[in-house]
Amino acid sequence: MTYTFLEPYTFTNGLTLRNKILMAPMTTSSSSPEGDVTEDELIYYIVRSSGPGAIITACAYISSEGQAFLNGMSVAKDSHVEGLSKLASIIKLQGSKAILQIYHGGRMSRRQFNGSRQPVAPSSIRAERKWTETPKELTDGGITILISQFASAVKRAIDAGFDGVELHGGNTYLLQQFVSPHSNQREDKWGGSLENRLRFPLEVIKACQEVIKQNADRPFLLGYRFSPEEVETPGIRLTDTYALIDILVKQHIDYLHLSVNYYYQPSIVGFRDYKYQIPQLIGDYINNRVPLISVGSIKQPEDAENALSHSQLVSLGRQLIIDPKWVQKVEAGDIREIETALHLSKKHQYNVPEPLWIAITASRTWFPIKP
Ligand SMILES: Cc1cc2nc3c(=O)[nH]c(=O)nc-3n(C[C@H](O)[C@H](O)[C@H](O)COP(=O)(O)O)c2cc1C
Repeated sequence: MTYTFLEPYTFTNGLTLRNKILMAPMTTSSSSPEGDVTEDELIYYIVRSSGPGAIITACAYISSEGQAFLNGMSVAKDSHVEGLSKLASIIKLQGSKAILQIYHGGRMSRRQFNGSRQPVAPSSIRAERKWTETPKELTDGGITILISQFASAVKRAIDAGFDGVELHGGNTYLLQQFVSPHSNQREDKWGGSLENRLRFPLEVIKACQEVIKQNADRPFLLGYRFSPEEVETPGIRLTDTYALIDILVKQHIDYLHLSVNYYYQPSIVGFRDYKYQIPQLIGDYINNRVPLISVGSIKQPEDAENALSHSQLVSLGRQLIIDPKWVQKVEAGDIREIETALHLSKKHQYNVPEPLWIAITASRTWFPIKP
């Protein structure tokens, strides 16, 4: 059996992936308290980087006040470049391309990780989560600084040897907060109309592209991840997402990456009509104008193949934690050897950093787990 996802893929900028599988970004909460990459993270990535066409790293914060997780990875300072360089070269050692995901948590950031600073956001509106607090509304100057912090992070990713950066515009973090009518109720040029709500991502992208143009001496990707809907009312709906896609395509983003839990997911808002699967609708809307990475509960080769019906590439998250050699097994035709659950008794085989292992095993519903 041959699978189309095993074929190489070349982006418009000339960068070629050896296959169409990417490792989805997954936070490990295992960097040092200063945000430096640790040995445990390097080991976790090296065992997973010999199969996929590219590895998208855990999200790295662009500014220390934007941390949403304990011991997240940082790209906020030049001093982080040394550790990030090790990470990029470890990933590339066995032929995968290395993409650094970058983010700012905005109102999802937490004071306890950020030197007790109050989180900042487009508007002073609390996220509908038990543990969040009311953020401070960003000033116009603060927004300008944030744009330059995204751009500086891209420069560091280039210096560290990555093949690209993915802007984390999903999962309710800062970029998404600007797009959302829930978190962005500003009345200046950064909020209000849909056009104004899209301005911040657009300006971030322009600044990052300029840095790439000035500094990258090799094909360097700039991708954008997004959550197509929000559960809040008001909140992001497909019409907002279609408008976002249009400006990203117009701005020549190199790829888009969905953030959903199932590659066949119906809408998460309103009437759940199972005939309409959001990833398929997004793929139809994009209509090959830009490469789309699909994601969510891809476990078997058939899942990846099905997801390619509406996208050009697919990313696997949990499945590559459970089975780091998934791609190699498919290449060798050893489909029956694919592991579909984490075995607690085989912990040492996974090379998963301890904080991530604890988080995974504390929840009995997040991953399929066996004794
Ligand atoms: C442990 C863990 C950490 C995650 N961290 C991130 C992250 O840093 N950035 C991000 O965009 N998504 C993150 N996600 C979401 C995944 O990228 C992916 O979209 C999700 O797990 C669904 O894909 P899957 O079913 O293949 O795991 C994380 C998921 C997991 C399981």
